[in-house]
Amino acid sequence: MIFDMTYLAVPIAAKDLEGARSQMRFAAGAGAEMLELRTDYFENLNVLLVRRAVEAARETGLPVIVTCRDVREGGARDYETRLRAEVLAGALKAGAQFVDFEYANFAETLHREKILAALAGNSKARLILSAHDFKGRFEDIGRIYRQIAGAYPAAIPKLVYTARHINDCFEAFDLLNSTSGERAVLCMGEAGLISRILAKKLGGFVTFASVDQPTATAPGQMTIEQFKGLYRYESIDEKTEVYGVIGSPIGHSLSPAIHNACFAGAGMNRVYLPLHVEGGAAEFERFMDGVLRRDRLGFRGLSVTIPHKGHALEFVRRRGGAVEPLAERIGAVNTVIAGRDGRVSGYNTDYAGALGAIVDGLGLERAGLAGMSVAVLGAGGAARAIVVGLCDAGAKVLIYNRTVEKAKKLAEEFGCAYAGLDELKGPAARLVVNCTSVGMYPHIHETPLPKELITSGMAVFDTVYNPPETLLLKQAKDAGAKTISGMEMFINQAAEQFKLFTHSECNMSVLRKTVLDSLTF
Ligand SMILES: NC(=O)c1ccc[n+]([C@@H]2O[C@H](COP(=O)([O-])OP(=O)(O)OC[C@H]3O[C@@H](n4cnc5c(N)ncnc54)[C@H](OP(=O)(O)O)[C@@H]3O)[C@@H](O)[C@H]2O)c1
Repeated sequence: MIFDMTYLAVPIAAKDLEGARSQMRFAAGAGAEMLELRTDYFENLNVLLVRRAVEAARETGLPVIVTCRDVREGGARDYETRLRAEVLAGALKAGAQFVDFEYANFAETLHREKILAALAGNSKARLILSAHDFKGRFEDIGRIYRQIAGAYPAAIPKLVYTARHINDCFEAFDLLNSTSGERAVLCMGEAGLISRILAKKLGGFVTFASVDQPTATAPGQMTIEQFKGLYRYESIDEKTEVYGVIGSPIGHSLSPAIHNACFAGAGMNRVYLPLHVEGGAAEFERFMDGVLRRDRLGFRGLSVTIPHKGHALEFVRRRGGAVEPLAERIGAVNTVIAGRDGRVSGYNTDYAGALGAIVDGLGLERAGLAGMSVAVLGAGGAARAIVVGLCDAGAKVLIYNRTVEKAKKLAEEFGCAYAGLDELKGPAARLVVNCTSVGMYPHIHETPLPKELITSGMAVFDTVYNPPETLLLKQAKDAGAKTISGMEMFINQAAEQFKLFTHSECNMSVLRKTVLDSLTF
């Protein structure tokens, strides 16, 4: 058997043999590279049942790990350790290639001897000795690893713990990096997602995917379809360059779908991950330092979104990296490029994305914006990039914001006028740009601009892109006004990021199609 791969294993977690058979067929059809028969899910567990299940697993042609997990380490049912050890011994006799036993129980002579005797009768089989922490990180993961390796050197150590924060994954990466041979180190939970994808890049022995969400056997487990479709698991190897989007929350982000599709379309050995960095500047910094210090992870570029764009600017500055002047003026970095020499640089693609959407939407050259009256609704990060862009182009900008002080601050910085959002009374501008989050999914029945204020001579640009046609844009269209969707800005800024990541143009039709396919509407 060849072990120089990271198996994508699918747990089979059924209460009876029929259910297990059907899950196995499904898993094999979905592209599983290995099955993990979770016999602790069986009702009325017995050795004969497990032997039959192993035979069924072998019919799929896939290698099988047989596990009968202790309830104290995440098992589904509270079966006695004696029975569980017998089940594993039976599985080995039936030809299972791997059995997974808890290291804590292996320490007991009786169970150890039973399993070792069965292993002696199946020379091709391997023992996985595992330890799990469902609450958080192990007290000393290195010590457990050494204990397992010392207790039975032929075993494959498997250490799985819960990441409470994405920064908890670094310990898993370091253990993989400092050890060799067959071993698995994985993090559970949403915060552990990157450990399960990068396991292959770092040479872990196995990673786990569910067939669908309800059959997941560990918190945060992804589906095999996500692994294979979205993250192109097959093409990940040690040379794969890693990219991602940092934000909090990040689950809604379209960036992984877009950039992975564009990387795939261009045949590039790159993967793009969602990076949920909870917390503020300190957590952001820890994450950035963590990925950049570990060159083997191969992080080369990062998109940055709420609430970390300001933190990204600070980070690049502190590292002595180059911040493009535009990003300095906007006060936000939404793209960080990491060179192989450890140098970082910061950019802002929102500006170009927004200006491109406006001039294309209005059918103008940039110079055509000079002197145009523009009402910007909102004074947050998006508004800031757009105000800078419009002011650079010579537009006359009036900023309306719910919190007037924020409008005042932004307006004073760039020489604009300002007012409270509730002071918006007449069709004061030729172009209205919504930079508030009002109207964004799921609040699709809201609009920041009363429809009576929209006239046919106006143009309305809504930066909200989910849905692509907001209530504001629908009402603008009904009033005969020109409309520009936030999707155009989003597509433009993603294309700019792709250029920064790869020094090449992305396929715009792939990008556009991916955005449309991924949106809720
Ligand atoms: N198309 C794109 O590529 C793209 C890129 C970036 C952002 N965006 C869009 O821009 C929106 C804002 O993003 P951001 O980064 O600027 O966020 P942000 O910095 O948090 O700013 C949010 C803005 O929305 C206002 N706001 C929020 N809820 C409101 C409400 N109920 N009524 C009135 N005003 C409200 C805030 O006003 P206060 O100051 O009073 O809180 C603030 O001006 C996002 O929702 C997103 O859809 C689009």
